[in-house]
Amino acid sequence: MGPQRSPRVELAPIDPGSRERIFRWYQDPELVAPFDRYETEQYTSFLESLESAANDPRSLAPRYAIRKRSDGTLLGCVGHYFAHPVLEYVDVWYVLGAREERGHGYGTEAVGLLIDRVYAESHIERVGATCDVDNVGSARILEKLGLRREGTLRSALFHHGAWHDVHEYGTTRAEWSRLRSPARS
Ligand SMILES: CC(C)(COP(=O)(O)OP(=O)(O)OC[C@H]1O[C@@H](n2cnc3c(N)ncnc32)[C@H](O)[C@@H]1OP(=O)(O)O)[C@@H](O)C(=O)NCCC(=O)NCCS
Repeated sequence: MGPQRSPRVELAPIDPGSRERIFRWYQDPELVAPFDRYETEQYTSFLESLESAANDPRSLAPRYAIRKRSDGTLLGCVGHYFAHPVLEYVDVWYVLGAREERGHGYGTEAVGLLIDRVYAESHIERVGATCDVDNVGSARILEKLGLRREGTLRSALFHHGAWHDVHEYGTTRAEWSRLRSPARS
């Protein structure tokens, strides 16, 4: 499957030119993980994780770059992973690393494309996402796309020295198909 497009953004392969920029974003925990666990990584292991992700459905590595279609600007990156050892579903994640580009709806378009892609490339029925209850921007993306808030996991995530509650969002294949038609452009 080639790059996928919404009106303003596309999901593109993480090419050599993007890798360093994405890694630099990863060096700023308050940019990539203000509401999340953060682990530092060496550039070499970051590159290795990008390489191995294609064959590892549980990999947390970025899988696609988000680019602005009008001029190719690198906006961020997204990933997906099998989230549970027994249950069969995929969680998605997303970062708008270009902080100055936030708030324009690019994150929402990119996550929509990502979920389209997960469904197109897998057999799974459920796609989910989790976010810290204080991560209002992230929750807003999921709600604008129509995912349902299925519950709140109490004290499920440790970051910034404390345990945090996490909202669990999800959609099903049939529901997503309804949400995405016929308004797609
Ligand atoms: C979360 C993130 C991806 C949002 O990207 P974005 O491109 O700005 O998202 P969008 O513009 O598509 O939508 C964001 C929505 O949240 C709203 N929002 C963002 N921060 C907010 C806040 N602090 N309070 C209230 N609303 C907020 C925006 O107004 C917008 O809603 P609207 O369209 O109804 O106005 C970006 O902030 C980011 O990369 N954050 C760090 C990484 C992260 O937290 N990723 C998610 C992990 S679960």
